[in-house]
Amino acid sequence: MLEAVMNRLKTQKGLSREWPAEPMLGGWYTEEEIEAVVKAIRSSMDPAVGFGFFCDEIVDFERQFADYIGCKYALSITSAGTGLDMAMRALDLQPGDEVIVPAINFRAAHYAVLGAGGKLVMCESDETLNADPADVEKKITPRTRAILVTHMNGLSAPICDYLEIAERHPHPKYGPPKVIGDAARALGGEYKGEKIGTKGWMTIFSLHTMKMMTTLGEGGMITTNDPELMARLRALRQWGIAQSDDLEIARGKKGTGNQGWGSNYKMTKIQAVVGMVQLRRLDEMIRPRIALAEKRTAILSQVPGLTVPVIPSDCKPVYYLYNLLVPEAWAGAKRDSFMKLLRTKYGVDTVVANPPVYQTDSFIRNNIGEQRCPRSEQIGARLVNIPLHPLMSEEDNEFICAAVIDCFNEIARS
Ligand SMILES: Cc1ncc(COP(=O)(O)O)c(C=O)c1O
Repeated sequence: MLEAVMNRLKTQKGLSREWPAEPMLGGWYTEEEIEAVVKAIRSSMDPAVGFGFFCDEIVDFERQFADYIGCKYALSITSAGTGLDMAMRALDLQPGDEVIVPAINFRAAHYAVLGAGGKLVMCESDETLNADPADVEKKITPRTRAILVTHMNGLSAPICDYLEIAERHPHPKYGPPKVIGDAARALGGEYKGEKIGTKGWMTIFSLHTMKMMTTLGEGGMITTNDPELMARLRALRQWGIAQSDDLEIARGKKGTGNQGWGSNYKMTKIQAVVGMVQLRRLDEMIRPRIALAEKRTAILSQVPGLTVPVIPSDCKPVYYLYNLLVPEAWAGAKRDSFMKLLRTKYGVDTVVANPPVYQTDSFIRNNIGEQRCPRSEQIGARLVNIPLHPLMSEEDNEFICAAVIDCFNEIARS
């Protein structure tokens, strides 16, 4: 098989198009989304109607999302960043309260903790790029209020392991720390036979343009099975109002009173109608990603020294990004040369997603004192993400594999 793949470099001039390492549109649109937008605008032109505060479309989208995930509740919001902020508000962090967050991550979770005045406790990840349960257990203290983990690049983190750790280390006042999932990159992924988003206190999804599906560029969703938490989140989303039934309020009926602080984190009717179409098409947009990634793994796993995505047997990832780890001895400079060669020799774009956040973000670095995660630094220095998109052809996928192998061998020889 390898020989046939390597032949691509002779028979194919290059990639059929430039594939960004992290594409700006993670799925794709069809005429159906466009028609849904036009219809929703037309139905909102009456001065008595407009977009409303809440509308049937938002409620329908949330119901369908919850059904897709297989959980009780889904709450639509403006972004995953907003959702993480809401998670911290719902925790009601007090001074000195700690939240454990993996260092290998996008910055959103850390910003949410710091924004709410919490103490950020950084933990290590392993080669799956997800938080290492053993290190979470090392970092937990009687002040830990939450374990906030990201399902990195579409692969579920081991939520049940963190839940067990939380049970063993209850906070003296609040009980076991809450386990919160950031599934911004992992919509549609599975863990222990269920979709990501059914376990833990709550899970936060992003519907940003780069993600598995989008509500016109921005958007988010929170899922949970906890009715009390859902009531609190609803109130946070809309000026503290306890919306046992948002639609009742929109239709002029009285709400049941104010539940403390809230703001406005609602998505629009237009986003919701597009979301419903994208959700219906979600599996169709994920399937080719998985097929391309698995084909790639079958090829690249034959290259000695190159580590393909590490997938625990109880997980089905959706490959938001495709992770490669170069040998330990290449960490840093040699990895960078490999990335550069892929670009210059074959036009293959790569990205590192993500090194420990404190290496790239000075706000986080300035707020964690001396905390460092050496194992994560080592993994981050070996990490390379090569382009993947569900619309990529098999030919381009093979060309990228051949380019990776050729450049890997050239750097190995140097
Ligand atoms: C892991 C992770 N969490 C959170 C976010 C923030 O998502 P949003 O853009 O919807 O706020 C992102 C966005 O890139 C992400 O990758």
